[in-house]
Amino acid sequence: MNSVPPSVVAAERRAAEHGFEHSCERGVGDVIAVLAAATPPNGRILELGTGLGVGLAWILSGLGARTDVEVVSIEWDAERVLSIAEIDLPAHASIVAGDIEALLPTLGQFDLIFADAEAGKWTGLDLTIAALAPRALLLVDDMEISRYDSSHDRSLVEVVREALMTDPRLVAVELNVGSGMILASRRAIVH
Ligand SMILES: C[S@@+](CC[C@H](N)C(=O)[O-])C[C@H]1O[C@@H](n2cnc3c(N)ncnc32)[C@H](O)[C@@H]1O
Repeated sequence: MNSVPPSVVAAERRAAEHGFEHSCERGVGDVIAVLAAATPPNGRILELGTGLGVGLAWILSGLGARTDVEVVSIEWDAERVLSIAEIDLPAHASIVAGDIEALLPTLGQFDLIFADAEAGKWTGLDLTIAALAPRALLLVDDMEISRYDSSHDRSLVEVVREALMTDPRLVAVELNVGSGMILASRRAIVH
C-alpha cells in the first residue's frame, strides 16, 4: 500500500469521531483510487453510500488535480450528508441526498461505480449494472464471505457474487484483498 493521502486520514478521523464504523477499508480505498485515476476524459464516477466521506476522499485523491471528471456520491442519512457538507468539496464532486435505488435510474451512466451500500448491491444490483456505461468499471466491496456470521447474509453475498461473475454484460474477477471485492467491466458488445 502506498502512503495514505491526508484527505483520507482526515475523513477516517471524522468517521471515528462520529462512531461510524462502515467506511471502506484502506485496501479497498487504494483500488478505487487507482480506478478513479483511469477514468476517461470528461468521465463520471458514482459512489453508492457516502458514509462520512472516506471512499469519496480516496476517489478524489485518485483524480488528483483533474477537474474534468464528475464525481457523484449518494447518501440518504441527512446527518452524514451534513457532516460531509462541512468539508470543502471541489466543484466537480457532489453528494446527492436520497435513496440509492430511487435515484439510480435518474442519474445517467457512469464510467466507474463504487457500490458500497446495501442498496444497489444486496438489493437493486441490476439498477447499478444498468448505470454502467459501455467499458465502465464496477467495484463491489464487502464480498469476503467469512466475515459474515448469519446464514442470511452469507447467502446474500453468494447471490451477488454469482450474479456478477455470470452476468453476460460483465467481465468480472474476485480480488481477495481487504473486505473482499469483485471488480467488473461492462462489455461494450454483448452477444
Ligand atoms: C458502507 S457505508 C459507505 C461508506 C463509504 N463509501 C466510505 O467509504 O466511507 C454505506 C452507506 O450507505 C448508506 N445507505 C444505505 N442504504 C442506502 C440507500 N438506500 N440510499 C442511500 N444511502 C444508503 C448508509 O447510510 C451508509 O452511510
